[in-house]
Amino acid sequence: MVNQLLILLPLFIALGNLTLVASKTKQNLPKKIDSDNQSDDRGFISIDCGAKEEYVDPNTGILYKPDTDLVQGGRVYTVNPLLNSSFQRQLTTLRSFPVERRSCYTLRPKQGKDNKYLIRAVFFHGGYDSNTKGPSFNIYLGTNIWVSVPPANADQYFFVYEIVITASTDAIYVCLVNTGGGSPFISLLELRPVSKSIYGVASHSLALGTEARYDVGASSLYMDNRYQNDVYDRVWQNSGLNMSWRAFSNTSVDIDTDGSGNAYRLPAQVLRTAVQPATLSKNLFMNGTIDRRYEYCVYFHFAEIQLTPGRRRMINITVNGESFLPEPITLEYLKPLTISTNITTQDYFSFDISPAKGSDLPPILNALEIQILLPQPNLPTYTRDVDAILEIKDTYGISRIDWQGDPCLPSFLMWSGLNCRNDNGARIISVVLSSSKLTGEISSSFSRLTELESLDLSFNDFTGQVPEFLGELTKLKMLNLTGNKMQGPVPNLLIEKSKNGSLILKLDENPELCLMGSCKGKRKKVDIIAVASSVTVLVLIILLVLAIIWTHKRSKKGENVYKYSGGRPLKFKCQSFKYSEIVKITNNFSSLIGEGGFGKVYHGTLKDDFQVAVKLLSSSSRQGSKEFQNEVKSLLRAHHKNLLSLIGYCIEGHNMALVYEYMENGNLEQHLSFDCNNVLTWIRRLQVAIDAARGLDYLHNGCRPSIIHRDIKTSNILLDKNFQAKISDFGLSKAFETESCTHVSTDPKGTFGYFDPQYYNTKKLNRESDIYSFGIVLLEMITGRKAIIRDLGPAPIHIIQWVSLNFGRMDIGRIVDPRIQGSYNISSAGKAIEIAMACVHSTAIQRPNASLVYSELKECLKIELASENINDNEEICSNCSSELSPR
Ligand SMILES: *[C@@H]1O[C@H](CO)[C@@H](O)[C@H](O)[C@H]1NC(C)=O
Ligand SMILES: *[C@@H]1O[C@H](CO)[C@@H](O)[C@H](O)[C@H]1NC(C)=O
Ligand SMILES: *[C@@H]1O[C@H](CO)[C@@H](O)[C@H](O)[C@H]1NC(C)=O
Ligand SMILES: *[C@@H]1O[C@H](CO)[C@@H](O)[C@H](O)[C@H]1NC(C)=O
Ligand SMILES: *[C@@H]1O[C@H](CO)[C@@H](O)[C@H](O)[C@H]1NC(C)=O
Ligand SMILES: *[C@@H]1O[C@H](CO)[C@@H](O)[C@H](O)[C@H]1NC(C)=O
Ligand SMILES: *[C@@H]1O[C@H](CO)[C@@H](O)[C@H](O)[C@H]1NC(C)=O
Ligand SMILES: *[C@@H]1O[C@H](CO)[C@@H](O)[C@H](O)[C@H]1NC(C)=O
Ligand SMILES: *[C@@H]1O[C@H](CO)[C@@H](O)[C@H](O)[C@H]1NC(C)=O
Repeated sequence: MVNQLLILLPLFIALGNLTLVASKTKQNLPKKIDSDNQSDDRGFISIDCGAKEEYVDPNTGILYKPDTDLVQGGRVYTVNPLLNSSFQRQLTTLRSFPVERRSCYTLRPKQGKDNKYLIRAVFFHGGYDSNTKGPSFNIYLGTNIWVSVPPANADQYFFVYEIVITASTDAIYVCLVNTGGGSPFISLLELRPVSKSIYGVASHSLALGTEARYDVGASSLYMDNRYQNDVYDRVWQNSGLNMSWRAFSNTSVDIDTDGSGNAYRLPAQVLRTAVQPATLSKNLFMNGTIDRRYEYCVYFHFAEIQLTPGRRRMINITVNGESFLPEPITLEYLKPLTISTNITTQDYFSFDISPAKGSDLPPILNALEIQILLPQPNLPTYTRDVDAILEIKDTYGISRIDWQGDPCLPSFLMWSGLNCRNDNGARIISVVLSSSKLTGEISSSFSRLTELESLDLSFNDFTGQVPEFLGELTKLKMLNLTGNKMQGPVPNLLIEKSKNGSLILKLDENPELCLMGSCKGKRKKVDIIAVASSVTVLVLIILLVLAIIWTHKRSKKGENVYKYSGGRPLKFKCQSFKYSEIVKITNNFSSLIGEGGFGKVYHGTLKDDFQVAVKLLSSSSRQGSKEFQNEVKSLLRAHHKNLLSLIGYCIEGHNMALVYEYMENGNLEQHLSFDCNNVLTWIRRLQVAIDAARGLDYLHNGCRPSIIHRDIKTSNILLDKNFQAKISDFGLSKAFETESCTHVSTDPKGTFGYFDPQYYNTKKLNRESDIYSFGIVLLEMITGRKAIIRDLGPAPIHIIQWVSLNFGRMDIGRIVDPRIQGSYNISSAGKAIEIAMACVHSTAIQRPNASLVYSELKECLKIELASENINDNEEICSNCSSELSPR
């Protein structure tokens, strides 16, 4: 920005806005670091990201702490130090966030809110990964963007950003937000309290980003001045010199910064050096470019360092040609003086410091600062709401990867399960925490979300009574506590509201709850789906009969149950077939196309030539019949373009069949096999992965309660004629849980290698284990190899071991399927590998959820498309898929 002045040193840049957010009573920090203990005696918070342990920096005496307990996730890297930097040791480690969309550090300065702080974030790439380009990403301070870190070549990637804020809340969130430009990372994060009376802006809705801070006339080219010379630990850089300036200093003067009355408290070391015009009669002039979109504040710092008995140094300053001083200023010996002014809507910043009339000495300048005004338009979410949701997070140990930073804002990063209203400060209005394995009583923290309109806590393991306070939430319009273990009576207020229609109240499937105040008889209201899970063929039949009645009813109303156009079902509606029809459709089971755990799959054709796949349940399999029921159950709930659709079913005595849409391009396993002639391109693989992730996301997060697939593998990912991927076989739910793991050992051919290692300890399959299996699928797609690789050495090796071995060496070329060598972008592949490796993290809770996997894979595709100069939107992708089709 102030380009010409800045000759030697990296520029401080800060564009955009900033904010902060808070919470007071309870902390959302992991236990280890007492939040009050982030600050040292001076109130400094100094975090060396990725450091293994705390240490005292030998140059500054500042105690640096590691970031382990201040942030979730991320990966640590070590790099060679940056020579001659003010942050030498601090820049040797960094933390990178390959998977998270937003990663937040929560700073809790001990002085709390309404104080002024200088926050500094430093990014030094140092070639930590194999990329020659470093990432671009955004930094947010709470709810507002602070700065966009630009992309840069790895060997020049060194950015220092500083901001001065007046905190409006006790907790300050510094968040790195992935914008698709690569994995965000951070090397160093520092917070320093500063005097409220300096750096002019007092308002909470404005902050100052530091553009430049120059020790004008400094003697050393290499040494920055910072703590302990500077009490606020500002880093003063040598500005270099205009040819027409002359540096001068008096190294022996002793300037009493504290006693001077100047709250800026510049270090004596900075003030001892200055410039004056090279020719004694002239002015000090400078002209540089700035950005007219921003307002700048400039600070001229002066101190007389020459003892000049009988002679006065009087100066006049103009900025951009305008005189803003009411009268000339006279410098007094050893008395620091700061003059500041603002510049708006200008393309350049020039100053001219001239000797005022009557001055006996030429003008001088000792130091100069330039800051940029950063508006903070978004207020943080209402503090009480933030506190309440953080308490809820703590109470139930909710460890969602996206529950970081402000819960509501920015809205594209709103915490999953929440909804907020944002007029004049965001408020939480809806909380959906259904199927989240929450246990214990319903926390009174919910009562503090006073704007809550909708609360869905269905399908958890909540116990205890339905609390009275829920009735007192005046805005509450929907309360769903279905599928818990609530006991005792229901508060009258809730019942009243539900009766007069002001509240939708769902309390089904809480066997010990009594509705009418009489707690003797147990309620037996029944949810069809839930009973189906108690597994009897009888119930399945009831279910199907109901479905049949329903469809008949619909038909009688004159609605077509089925309609095809262009061979595709217009809508999902389920048809029942007679067994004789099934025989006809499959041409007496003449064309076998597959075989699963439950029975055989045949190709079939409906009347209008619509092609289907018919799964026949082998009558001998008891296990199979359960899976069959489960499959129907799940299928009836789950409709999505990335899930295989059910077209109809047949149930006649022992004959049970399911009729699905036919998938022309078979399954992913076939396409990845080495016998396959038409190798899937990298783009196609990404698209398939995205489709599958989206289907999985729908099962996990779109369905309530969510559906755990339990058997994600390449052979269960099917491809239609346009290579759109659909997940099949997601009906195996529950059967596993009740039958323990026997199924696994009897059917090792497809499943072995995909199984979450944690399963062997916990014997439970959950969303995280699906993610694990999905990670294996991704690795297979990337490498073109099987989960268990047998052809690379004497002993078989698991794909995770093999990939991490090569990924550790950053050998992406070796990892990616040799059949598509050369035709993919290395960053896209690198990111895909990172995602896959995150999915197969050995600790289940560290794995990303499906929606994040989905959005990250889309980023991979974006990177790939950008590198091929194709526009990055989904429509275009699906268009180009036909061109890229291997057929
Ligand atoms: C605070 O941190 C310092 C340095 O890490 C440590 O010595 C001290 O015991 C901590 N105090 C508390 C109360 O945790
Ligand atoms: C680092 O500083 C020393 C003087 O302290 C100087 O000789 C050397 O050239 C500097 N190195 C770099 C890379 O700037
Ligand atoms: C340096 O000073 C000269 C003379 O005052 C002026 O013309 C020139 O614009 C200055 N250079 C910069 C970069 O400001
Ligand atoms: C500073 O430079 C700009 C062009 O970069 C020019 O338009 C402007 O007049 C200059 N200002 C002064 C005071 O010389
Ligand atoms: C430098 O400062 C000392 C006082 O510390 C003073 O005696 C001396 O005269 C100063 N030098 C000049 C050139 O003003
Ligand atoms: C400062 O200089 C400007 C331009 O030369 C002049 O207009 C102004 O009156 C001066 N101000 C003072 C206080 O001398
Ligand atoms: C600069 O602008 C800010 C914000 O409008 C204001 O608070 C400050 O007082 C101004 N400073 C000067 C020197 O005009
Ligand atoms: C319903 O009943 C509640 C509690 O008695 C009351 O506050 C509310 O105003 C009533 N709403 C309507 C629409 O009658
Ligand atoms: C809970 O009930 C509400 C209101 O009927 C509904 O919108 C919501 O989807 C239900 N939640 C689940 C998980 O079924």
